[in-house]
Amino acid sequence: MSNQKGQGAFVSGFSKKTKAEKLDWISQQFNNPSQALEVLHNYNHNDQALQALHDEFIENALTNFYMPLGVAPNFIINGKTLTIPMAIEESSVVAAASKAAKFWSTKGGFNAAIMGTEKVGHVHFMYHGDAQKLITFFEKYRSSLLASTDEITHNMRSRGGGITALSLVDKSDAISDYYQLDVRFETQDAMGANFINSCLEQLGTTLKALAAKHPDFSEKEKVIEIVMSILSNYVPNCMVEAAVSCPVNELLASPEDSRLFAEKFVQAVRIAAVEPFRAVTHNKGIMNGIDAVVMASGNDFRAVAAGIHAHAAASGQYQSLSKAEIKDGIFRFSLRVPLALGTVGGLTNLHPLVRWCHELMGTPNAQELMQIVAVAGLAQNFAAVKSLVTTGIQQGHMKMHLLNILNQHQATEAEKKAAIAHFKDNPVSHHTVANLLVKLRGA
Ligand code: MEV
Repeated sequence: MSNQKGQGAFVSGFSKKTKAEKLDWISQQFNNPSQALEVLHNYNHNDQALQALHDEFIENALTNFYMPLGVAPNFIINGKTLTIPMAIEESSVVAAASKAAKFWSTKGGFNAAIMGTEKVGHVHFMYHGDAQKLITFFEKYRSSLLASTDEITHNMRSRGGGITALSLVDKSDAISDYYQLDVRFETQDAMGANFINSCLEQLGTTLKALAAKHPDFSEKEKVIEIVMSILSNYVPNCMVEAAVSCPVNELLASPEDSRLFAEKFVQAVRIAAVEPFRAVTHNKGIMNGIDAVVMASGNDFRAVAAGIHAHAAASGQYQSLSKAEIKDGIFRFSLRVPLALGTVGGLTNLHPLVRWCHELMGTPNAQELMQIVAVAGLAQNFAAVKSLVTTGIQQGHMKMHLLNILNQHQATEAEKKAAIAHFKDNPVSHHTVANLLVKLRGA
């Protein structure tokens, strides 16, 4: 196998190497090995215990990959003031959230409510036989199936959670011989992925064993094939709603501007409801807020994103997650999203910065965190759509992006200061920033 730079060499037993050996091997993949090592080294913690903690999160960890952690203050959620932590690389997101928080802080703030907290998972299996016999078998052994998970669910039950429903679903119309055990869970403050998957695997094992010795089954029917046992990240009954509202004429400085703004805003949200091209970008703006808080809270942002986009497409057409309306002179803007989040277990107890973020948010329970995350999504969406229907987003974006462009040009502190002053009244682009720096440097 080639070992040319940039092509990637083959290595066996990489995961078994020590960290020093891994670093040595990986550095040899670069044209300048010592420089490559230095980059990795610069992102390592000096505190060895802290670094060791991070190294154990994943396999083959070489260093840390930093993401800025910012905060958006002045959120009022159900009457309580909160500063929200956000981990995100996109320049304008925290600024937009902060602006929206401040805007709504003078209009009663955000309201948030939990619609449900049910999680779901499935044992997907193949049964080759008479469907009615399977139904009878399932009804007979339903409680035995549940009892087989008692050891796993013991602690969760003592905290008020556990398996809340178990049913057999015939999916043989979609794929011949395909059935499911559909299992519903309450996992309290845990996201519950390990708990759910352990229960499902146990249910699968018990199902197979019970079928194998069920006297009413034929030899073929006795052989249930478990295809897989896994939670679903689509959690339509683990839902939260965030909303803001105020009299239309209080939205902006003048009643006339307010009315025009509200109407255009509602129109923009309607477009996102019917036009998938717009809906995806509209929802991306919501995810800017949601992902940043989910990440800062140490939760699984991929799971959250997968579930939310499934919800957005639940009608058969991908649609806007938020709704806006004007009714009886009141402007109301709201967002419903499925969110399976945890405030105990996983990274939440392990990662010092995640713990810090939880403390900043007042150590929320899972339901409170769902509300905070939904509010961050709605705030972000409000800020984006407000900019879009008024000034356009580039004005704000490029102002925030200015520092990135200046850093790309290795601008000094004095140059940055001069540029920020200059671009207060001038349009920012890569070209205009480069030109200004040429001028400043020639001066
Ligand atoms: C950019 O990250 C997000 C927006 O495009 C969202 C939107 O268009 O609503 C501004």
